[in-house]
Amino acid sequence: MFIVFEGGEGAGKTTAMNAVADALGARAMVTREPGGTPEGLALRGLLLAEDGPDWDPMAELLLMVAARVQHVARVIRPALAAGRVVLCDRYLASTLAYQGAGRGLPEDFIMNLHNAAVGLMPDLTVLLDVDPRTGLMRSGRRLAAGALHEGRFEALGLKFHERVRASFLMQAAATRTVVIDANSDEMQVRRAVLETIRDNPGARG
Ligand code: TYD
Repeated sequence: MFIVFEGGEGAGKTTAMNAVADALGARAMVTREPGGTPEGLALRGLLLAEDGPDWDPMAELLLMVAARVQHVARVIRPALAAGRVVLCDRYLASTLAYQGAGRGLPEDFIMNLHNAAVGLMPDLTVLLDVDPRTGLMRSGRRLAAGALHEGRFEALGLKFHERVRASFLMQAAATRTVVIDANSDEMQVRRAVLETIRDNPGARG
């Protein structure tokens, strides 16, 4: 079972995902993108650092996909083959939302690239939907507190993040996605996510 958590900045994916991992116990494996492997982590640094390289959008897309190829081949597929429930913080929907709707690269190109280079699709996607104004305020607080130095995408402004949100919601309608209102407080979001996983036969123990 391959479960992906998606959402805009400050949606609370990480907290919600960790709650699900706790509930699932030893069967769960938690991972994230970009990252998930030493090679992916190196690419993450190059992609997200506020003072990092100035990528052309197409180069940014190819690096996101390169990190995913490595992640799926070395970590996700082996874990699934071993019977683990893989919980992944961001995946293809983020690429369609950020590099597609956000940066303006054609979504059919991104899908073709994914099908050719990666192939694997999630069994279930949990979309934490948050108003970008709320989400950016939350992640802004974390950045200011020094908890993160990965503000590359946070810095892109409200219009960009509104396109990202609209893309996530449009994708949700066309895929196996549960949409959770993440505008409310963390406890409520966590409860809604845990109920979603409990109601999903494949993820139950
Ligand atoms: P993440 O660590 O989940 O950030 P946060 O916890 O602040 O939500 O994701 C890092 C950033 O990478 C996020 O701004 C979205 C971006 N991203 C893309 O642009 N494309 C992608 O394919 C992925 C996986 C992430």
